[in-house]
Amino acid sequence: MHEKIIILDFGSQTTQLIGRRVRELNTYCEIVPYNKFPHDATDVKGVILSGSPYSVYDANAFKTDLTEIRSKYPVLGICYGAQFLAYTSGGSVESANSREYGRAKLTFADSDDRLFKGITSGAQIWMSHGDTITSLPASFNVIASTDDVKATAYKIEGEETWGVQFHPEVFHTTNGTQLLDNFLSICGCSKDWTPASFIEATVEELKEQLKDDKVILALSGGVDSSVTAVLLNKAIGKNLTCIFVDHGLLRKNEFENVLRDYEHLGLNVIGVNAREKFYSRLAGVTDPEEKRKIIGKGFIDVFDEEAHKLKDIKWLGQGTIYPDVIESLSITGTVIKSHHNVGGLPEKMHLKLVEPLRLLFKDEVRRVGTELGMMSHLIARHPFPGPGLGIRILGDITAEKVSVLQEADDVYISLLREWGLYDKVWQAGAILLPIRSVGVMGDERTYENTIALRAVTSTDAMTADWAQLPYDFLAKVSNEIINKVKGVNRVVYDISSKPPATIEWE
Ligand code: XMP
Repeated sequence: MHEKIIILDFGSQTTQLIGRRVRELNTYCEIVPYNKFPHDATDVKGVILSGSPYSVYDANAFKTDLTEIRSKYPVLGICYGAQFLAYTSGGSVESANSREYGRAKLTFADSDDRLFKGITSGAQIWMSHGDTITSLPASFNVIASTDDVKATAYKIEGEETWGVQFHPEVFHTTNGTQLLDNFLSICGCSKDWTPASFIEATVEELKEQLKDDKVILALSGGVDSSVTAVLLNKAIGKNLTCIFVDHGLLRKNEFENVLRDYEHLGLNVIGVNAREKFYSRLAGVTDPEEKRKIIGKGFIDVFDEEAHKLKDIKWLGQGTIYPDVIESLSITGTVIKSHHNVGGLPEKMHLKLVEPLRLLFKDEVRRVGTELGMMSHLIARHPFPGPGLGIRILGDITAEKVSVLQEADDVYISLLREWGLYDKVWQAGAILLPIRSVGVMGDERTYENTIALRAVTSTDAMTADWAQLPYDFLAKVSNEIINKVKGVNRVVYDISSKPPATIEWE
């Protein structure tokens, strides 16, 4: 296994961001709950303590004994991490008079400190805390201050331990990446963790783990499952069987196109057309959660049926990625997603799980995919929900409605690509509303369907803003849809952000 940095998570919203920054510096890291330090790991090079929503003096603040960690590894405490180190070593932390949020400028007391190498006085940093260290223990030496905060950064004498009361991981701290890079150098990290080295190591591990066993994997057309398949294929070749189910709720021609891509990639893939099965189970169902359940259950049934035709399958491959893993380890338990499409699959099939991407962030999955030589349109694809157009047709689903929506969506997505806007948005799609309205075409009165267009910008789908697409682009899409898609006479654009709206309408 590769050398790594451990990030102890005290519950801050920016913990994942610290992880991403470290990875961007070509260093592998793992985020673990604050009290789950892997004491038996042999390849740890250093430790970062994250921020926290708590104050160190709160009764329910997260506390853990850092003595052993501090004696063995270089440690960097960020915000709460810095305050926690000071507080538990006899310093004082108090609620700040003016809450310290936003930009501030650094001045140095010790400009030779290794943590700040290459960072000059006046550098902009980003503060975000309601507490401040008011007195440091004797062995803590101040390295940098701001106008309001004397102990902005310190080092502990006789130890490789630093604390900073600001957030080097956020964009607004202009030299934050430099600071983290300096810390990695202090830790002696070789900074050679790249997509290529990840692939090499993972393929070796998969070979070792799976030997001659057979693996089955559900492909969705999305980035995560596709990259998982290509990695597994590289490791075990024909012992991997992929199943790609057409539930009849994919985009126009998506099934055929993606299947062809998979075949080009050399995957051993079985495409299953199960459209009718899904349409008949969904007939007359209008409740969104009910639709999700039917689609999820139908998917498991089809997959299970196909799997039973194969012999000696021992493993189920899954495209789980790191944010899902961190979420399930979450100490604060605040984020719970309801989008687990095939949650019951492993239990039902009595298979062992293999999840080669479980330690990667989404952007890293994309980089690995590119390194694996996968087509860019497969890698840069927008997220698409498991239940597909089923949750973009409001109300009940029929084959005819699917076809209307597929056509409208195809016009929209093709034009986004043509206008160079596809890669500028996180996700886009058309929604078929259960509303008909009056229009006029030529001399005739029409009474037809409404299509809503949705496009959002986001970094993680947890929050999103509606994309400010150019008016002439929207005019063009509206025109094309109304002229070309039979059954639609009105197009509207969704200008709601998340929260309070969600990305999908159902
Ligand atoms: P919402 O609508 O909750 O969507 O803002 C956030 C992200 O999740 C996707 N989404 C789903 N994905 N099964 C999925 O696999 C689902 O049931 C589902 N519902 C929403 C949505 O497309 C967006 O990327």
